[in-house]
Amino acid sequence: MKKTLNIALIGTGFIGKQHLEAIRRIPYTNIVAIADCNEEGLKRTAEAFGIEKTYTDYREMLEKEDIDVVHNCTPSAMHYEINKEVIKSGHHIYSEKPLTLTSEESGELVALAKEYGVATGANFNYRNNAMVREMRERIKNGEAGKPLVVHGAYLQDWLMFDTDYDWRMDPKLGGNSRALSDIGSHCFDTIQFVLGEKITEVNANAIIIYPERKKTEGGGTFSASAGKVTDTYKVLNEDVAFVMAKFESGLQGFFNISQVCGGKKNGLEINVSGSKESLEWHQEQSDRLHIGKRETGNEELFMGEAYLTGEVKRFATLPNGHPVGWADAFRNGILSFYESIWDESYKNNGFKWYADFESAHHIMKIIEACLESSKVKGWVKVG
Ligand SMILES: NC(=O)c1ccc[n+]([C@@H]2O[C@H](COP(=O)([O-])OP(=O)(O)OC[C@H]3O[C@@H](n4cnc5c(N)ncnc54)[C@H](O)[C@@H]3O)[C@@H](O)[C@H]2O)c1
Repeated sequence: MKKTLNIALIGTGFIGKQHLEAIRRIPYTNIVAIADCNEEGLKRTAEAFGIEKTYTDYREMLEKEDIDVVHNCTPSAMHYEINKEVIKSGHHIYSEKPLTLTSEESGELVALAKEYGVATGANFNYRNNAMVREMRERIKNGEAGKPLVVHGAYLQDWLMFDTDYDWRMDPKLGGNSRALSDIGSHCFDTIQFVLGEKITEVNANAIIIYPERKKTEGGGTFSASAGKVTDTYKVLNEDVAFVMAKFESGLQGFFNISQVCGGKKNGLEINVSGSKESLEWHQEQSDRLHIGKRETGNEELFMGEAYLTGEVKRFATLPNGHPVGWADAFRNGILSFYESIWDESYKNNGFKWYADFESAHHIMKIIEACLESSKVKGWVKVG
């Protein structure tokens, strides 16, 4: 029998609730308490999930509760401070992305976690989709041939009107980067995971479509804002970014990142064009892998244990024909993190299915290199 992990979660907003759902699907876990500075929202979540202990001050929770793992689901500006306190209190930490607002902060967290010997995970959840993991296996075992070129996109439309507003617009809460750090980071993590190599150099153009945006009554995250205009503000972080990238092996790629593309909801797509065939995955049809061929017909592989490679089989949690999707990948990532605590493999330097703080720190460096490249209008090395 495994040791039951005592879990605490900070930040019960949109993504915090998804963490709670996913944790509940993992055996040998016990959600001991949740914390949020918004008392009303906290109460609603506690009631919905049947969680007895709640705290409006997460520090009190860290002090009083018997905890193994903390999930940090607060807005990005709070990640650095809260992750630091969690590590210093000796708990394992699973943090939302982006890991911090700067690579200086994320580097500090990597060093601190090493010092305290705790396991670290960053929720780059798309790499945990079984078909993304299958893509990685097929590249690693040579089935797709040598990668010739890669491309990808992460396109959304929830900020396409100048009246759309969210905390991510405020650099103090979301950081100097928005589209790149909010969704580009997922794209970079997924492609690096699939290829098994890092982005080392970028040439990027970060674009602000609306230099000035409007605040409206009732406008908020993912909500169409139809209310009266109450204020205007200067936009300081990018809506869109076009990124050319070079990888360790010399491989090159292009990524299109945008939060203003009408009709695109959560359009993450990645394509690796290999010398034998190309592999392509679309997040919105996440139970399929498109296999592009030159001399015979293209194939569409539907997720099913029987068709997947090696260890990836166990991440297809339902039989073929029962689409496995976003929530399943989310659970896979958290499960992989907990497994590394149970078998203590988080202490090893080798390959991990989930993203640890070191991987998330490299993503911070990519984002900063993209912003720098956009300023100097040329190639910039990462890190
Ligand atoms: N992995 C993903 O796919 C994904 C998707 C969405 C958001 N995120 C990340 O998750 C984080 C949260 O985003 P969200 O969309 O859930 O935001 P949100 O605004 O819906 O939720 C944030 C919650 O944190 C709480 N909070 C703020 N400051 C706090 C503090 N000091 N102590 C305790 N609670 C505090 C807020 O009251 C709110 O309930 C962000 O970093 C974002 O980048 C990741």
